[in-house]
Amino acid sequence: MCGITARIGEDDSLADLLVSLENLEYRGYDSAGIAVQNGAGIDVNKVEGEVSELQKTLSDHEHDGPIGIGHTRWSTHGPPSDENAHPHTGCQGRVVAVHNGIIENYATLRESLQARGHEFTSDTDTEVIPHLVEERLAAGMDPEIAFRDAIDELEGSYAIAMMVDGDPAVYATRDGSPLVVGVGREANYLASDVPAFLEFTDRVVYLEDGDVVVVTPEDHRITDIDGSPVSRPAETVEWDPEDAEKGSYDHYMLKEINEQPVSLRQTIRGRIEGEDVTLEDFPPGTFTDISRVQLVGCGTSYHAGMYGEWLLSKWGLDANTYIASEYAAYPAPVDEETLVIGVTQSGETADTLEALRSARKRGARTLALTNVIGSTAARTCDDVLLIRAGPEIGVAATKTFSSQVASLVLVGERLVRDVTGDPTEECAERLAALESLPDLVEEVLDTSQAASISQRWSGEAGNFFIGRGNAHAVALEGALKFKEITYEHAEGFAAGELKHGPLALVTAETPVFAIGTGRHPERLESNVREIQTRLAPVIAVAPRTETNLTDTADAFLAVPATHPDLVAVLANVQLQLIAYHAADEMERAIDKPRNLAKSVTVE
Ligand code: AGP
Repeated sequence: MCGITARIGEDDSLADLLVSLENLEYRGYDSAGIAVQNGAGIDVNKVEGEVSELQKTLSDHEHDGPIGIGHTRWSTHGPPSDENAHPHTGCQGRVVAVHNGIIENYATLRESLQARGHEFTSDTDTEVIPHLVEERLAAGMDPEIAFRDAIDELEGSYAIAMMVDGDPAVYATRDGSPLVVGVGREANYLASDVPAFLEFTDRVVYLEDGDVVVVTPEDHRITDIDGSPVSRPAETVEWDPEDAEKGSYDHYMLKEINEQPVSLRQTIRGRIEGEDVTLEDFPPGTFTDISRVQLVGCGTSYHAGMYGEWLLSKWGLDANTYIASEYAAYPAPVDEETLVIGVTQSGETADTLEALRSARKRGARTLALTNVIGSTAARTCDDVLLIRAGPEIGVAATKTFSSQVASLVLVGERLVRDVTGDPTEECAERLAALESLPDLVEEVLDTSQAASISQRWSGEAGNFFIGRGNAHAVALEGALKFKEITYEHAEGFAAGELKHGPLALVTAETPVFAIGTGRHPERLESNVREIQTRLAPVIAVAPRTETNLTDTADAFLAVPATHPDLVAVLANVQLQLIAYHAADEMERAIDKPRNLAKSVTVE
């Protein structure tokens, strides 16, 4: 977790660094800091709180300089505080570093550095880095060799950027945490993620684990840990910087919910041809050797995986979903006929990467279903399918869930044709429905009554979400979104499971959102009646044609009727809006909910 950045130019860097940190805040917002070289030493400013707090302390612009590094933190070692905020310095303040990840052997390193007289001012694992470099500089090494030699001592996962007073360069490396170089005209950049510097350049070099880069105002040079040259191409990213800005919306989350018609069109564009799918790297026959599919992911991506599992199983494939952190710990059996799909928006989630690596090591074929080109998942897996949703900044995942499900429908269609050799008549209907999904999402957004429903039914004692089949995945997702941004208790259940325990929680103070897809409506209706008998209000989220449900429920959020495999995506959009409006009413920090970060790069 955490976001790191650097700007290396000839002119002042502070303004760009602050923009980059704001763009990286989705990765953590416990504290923020910047260090710049100003000709008279290194000026470090860091504060507990968000980047806006840092901005206040730097408003006089006295702290500027042409080369600087910055950090926004999600705490792992030591609580949020000014002292634990990055950048961290060595004893003499000559070396300064920012870090994302975890140094696993930091306690041993710290102890031996202390034994040699080094004094520490923070609880962080990061602080060992500038001290290690400082020792090597004192021993006469030049900064590049000192940096490589110091990181050779580190164990764990990290992306690090470091500078030395009086040396016009930033040294950086990655191993297990993301880091990209931005190649600009006026200056060069480093960051954990491309949106950090998208306003300044769209030329990007994706670094690989083990790369060490020296970035100067004119150039960048990559080597391995031993100093042997490494070549990485510069690529042009297609994201529009405006996609990563909030525009007229109050929150990124609302902007991203409203972007779904566009992002879904991007996901589907050029990938459906008549009654078949045309996935760029997956021609017919790609999956003929596959007999089993496993999906791994975390949070929202896990729910999208569950949705995918349900579709694949229903279409006759052997499919299972796993929470990535559990999969890595207790791996399911795989063989060379197993396809493991890592569902991950960022492509950087440590648990998902670990699951994919474990599957790959044991002989499975791996596929990254991700939003981020060049992400670690994309580079770790045998195959990549980009969901093409565009940048998602709000911590709460919204448009990427819809694009993940749409992508799973597409890859599922390829799988079912390749594995069973038998595209059913339903496949054609489903693909036609997928093509019209963006328009239907637009209809939901134009007509949603979620704002008034969320005001009227606020759960004093909890909020429950129920569904069957793929709507179970959406029930879990609706609850996750609700609890994540409102901080109110919310749970999702398989509708039929309610009577096996959770019904004890149901009272007049617990609204229940019941998601209907058109499959087995009578069963959901009887679950709704069980709930109403316990006096809880039921809000149906379903097509109007679902009269079993709509006539029984106390309130109704309509979605357009479409293929039953896809209705739950539309219901999910309504639930995103429910969570958003409830959180907005409570004046929560919607884009940056407490204790969370967008990209979880620690296990
Ligand atoms: C949900 O709103 C979250 N942001 C979270 O559950 C997220 O989906 C999870 O951390 C996985 O992230 P990924 O898709 O980038 O791997």
